Amino acid sequence: MKISALNGFKDIIPGEVELWQHVENVARDIFSRFNFSEIRMPILEKTDLFARSIGEATDIVEKEMYTFIDKQITMRPEATASLLRAYIQHGLHVQKPVQRLFTIGPMFRHERPQKGRLRQFHQMDVEVLGTPNPRVDAELMAMGAMFLEKLGVTVSLEMNSLGCPACRPGFRETLLAFIEERKDKLCDDCVRRSTTNPLRVLDCKNPKCREQVEEAPSIQEHLCDDCAEHFTSVQKGLDQLKVDYSLNKFMVRGLDYYTRTTFEFITKDLGAQAAVGAGGRYDGLVEKLGGPKVPGIGFALGMERLVLLLQQKEEQKTDNSKIDIFVAGLGEKASEFVFPLVHILRQQGLQTAMDHEGRSLKSQMKQANKLNAGYVLIIGENELEQGQAVLRNMATQEQQEITIDSDNMKMASLLMKKCRQ
Ligand code: HAM
Repeated sequence: MKISALNGFKDIIPGEVELWQHVENVARDIFSRFNFSEIRMPILEKTDLFARSIGEATDIVEKEMYTFIDKQITMRPEATASLLRAYIQHGLHVQKPVQRLFTIGPMFRHERPQKGRLRQFHQMDVEVLGTPNPRVDAELMAMGAMFLEKLGVTVSLEMNSLGCPACRPGFRETLLAFIEERKDKLCDDCVRRSTTNPLRVLDCKNPKCREQVEEAPSIQEHLCDDCAEHFTSVQKGLDQLKVDYSLNKFMVRGLDYYTRTTFEFITKDLGAQAAVGAGGRYDGLVEKLGGPKVPGIGFALGMERLVLLLQQKEEQKTDNSKIDIFVAGLGEKASEFVFPLVHILRQQGLQTAMDHEGRSLKSQMKQANKLNAGYVLIIGENELEQGQAVLRNMATQEQQEITIDSDNMKMASLLMKKCRQ
């Protein structure tokens, strides 16, 4: 019986992995332009970390976490809480008043798997800790937009403000009164949410609920003066950086830690899994996790969704992996000769391949083509006897004779020169 990967868990195999590397390389390039440093945290954390940060009444904490109940530990469902835990634990605020950190890695949520939604998925997560400045909100969204543009992915940016502990309770009351009048027309989930987290009723995907909340009050009109000023400044910053965005009063996010700015990068090309990235400000969270009174903002990009979008684009079909040289040894004697030569070429820095199965010249040439080799060195028994090998430039198809030197080092140096010409 074959054993397959678990439902919602996926291998990333050669041919696909190059796209992942590409996504990651572009991200590293853009994040470093904005002065971010990398941080890596463990996958397992204490369960309480997520309950306290993401919120007890969220879908993630209520039903999606992989938790070892006997040990009270959980496989991280997102990166923000872990990153903040590490930031507090290592006193990173003392080292630098404003920290710009990013992390890339797997997250785990027990969701219903479908295209673009997995149980093990990967996020590229960025966080700025230590500044309440609305310009930073705009700068972060601009960074996300720059990254997505460089990747060639078309998205729209939607933004909202969720206010703060001063103004949100007032809005909650207004919203509750609105919901109360329509309760009998809402789905069971929304009726339940209206007692635990009424804001979530605003982003229910059920078409009937959507219709009911169409006229719901907008939080943007219930912000306190400070939050309203912050929201206006963020928009001004986005305008200055020429980042397109639209305001979405229904965006409330599925994690409870947000204050003020929230945003999502939305694609039309992935059906229901439309958010390729999302985030927002969380000014009270570091303190709530036992750290200093430090504001923060960040977002995470979903790598599976980005790779899917790239795969959907025709131009990404090209596999740009390439090796420098394929050494075709024909027959046992020649194979024995090239075996240590290949090793020296690799030591000297050439990406080198050889065949170990005693294949014919024709099939070794096919292999070299598949590997996109720059050169092929052909050495058979005849060549060995005559002391001359053939080096073929695969791009131009030109061939030249190379004197076989029994000193592998000399032979390798000669090949290095030829391949790097
Ligand atoms: P999130 O909205 O839960 O936010 O996830 C961010 C992104 O991760 C989503 O937009 C999506 O692209 C991807 N994602 C989430 N769940 C899955 C899944 N099951 N399968 C595939 N991709 C998925 C957060 O996680 C926050 N920590 C973001 C943040 C950072 N806020 C502030 N800082």
